[in-house]
Amino acid sequence: MRIYECADYRAMSRRAASLIAAQVVLNPEGVLGLATGSTPIGLYSQLVEWYKQGDLSFAGIRSVNLDEYLGLAPTHEQSYRYFMQQNLFDHIDIKPENTHVLNGLAADPDAECAAYDQLIRELGGVDLQLLGMGHNGHIAFNEPGDNFGLGTHVVSLSERTIDANQRFFESRDQVPRQALSMGIKSIMGARRILVVVSGEDKADAVCRAVTGPVTDQVPASVLQLHPDVTLVGDTAALSKLKEAGVPVCG
Ligand code: GLP
Repeated sequence: MRIYECADYRAMSRRAASLIAAQVVLNPEGVLGLATGSTPIGLYSQLVEWYKQGDLSFAGIRSVNLDEYLGLAPTHEQSYRYFMQQNLFDHIDIKPENTHVLNGLAADPDAECAAYDQLIRELGGVDLQLLGMGHNGHIAFNEPGDNFGLGTHVVSLSERTIDANQRFFESRDQVPRQALSMGIKSIMGARRILVVVSGEDKADAVCRAVTGPVTDQVPASVLQLHPDVTLVGDTAALSKLKEAGVPVCG
């Protein structure tokens, strides 16, 4: 795993965006796996800026998103489809039909998940998968205890994740309790993985994911077994990792 330390959120966002831009330039018809959450917002905004400057085109890029809340329409302001439109898709030249987000209103969620795995196979797999990390080490919506062997599936959110995500909703009651999520197996199938982390509140999860045992209690720890992972974090998020003596690049 390559680990890059950046001074702050802005620098972290630029570094991560540059890695995605490099991927887009090298493989303009590649498949990007995209993520939501607060952490990637800055890198998406940087990609939009480079697109607007004429430095980057997404015209041939296909994308798949990691997850979606079960029960939220794509037009719901807290749905991940809406997030992607607002933060990236509406501002770049990616073709709408090439953007894929799980349908939170699917009548048969299990069938929706199976079709999504099939879609990823038909696209030829994910070239670069972007990931954030939850406070409990979750990736996408794979919570502690979830089976590492699963593809896309329906998940129940942990209380900690519901707590963390309630800031986006008017009340805790409104946070969906379930989601559709690419599984650890799907994520580990990506050719390259880029993890972005920011803030002291992630330092513990990052340290456990990188230095601790590979365990389903810390889903991100499975990334230790992937051959091509780059983690980009700000100094605060990497603080415990550095205390533990893990070497990082500047
Ligand atoms: C949600 C998403 C994850 C994301 C995590 C952390 O649970 N499903 O994909 O990584 O939140 O989000 P943030 O970047 O806002 O801390």
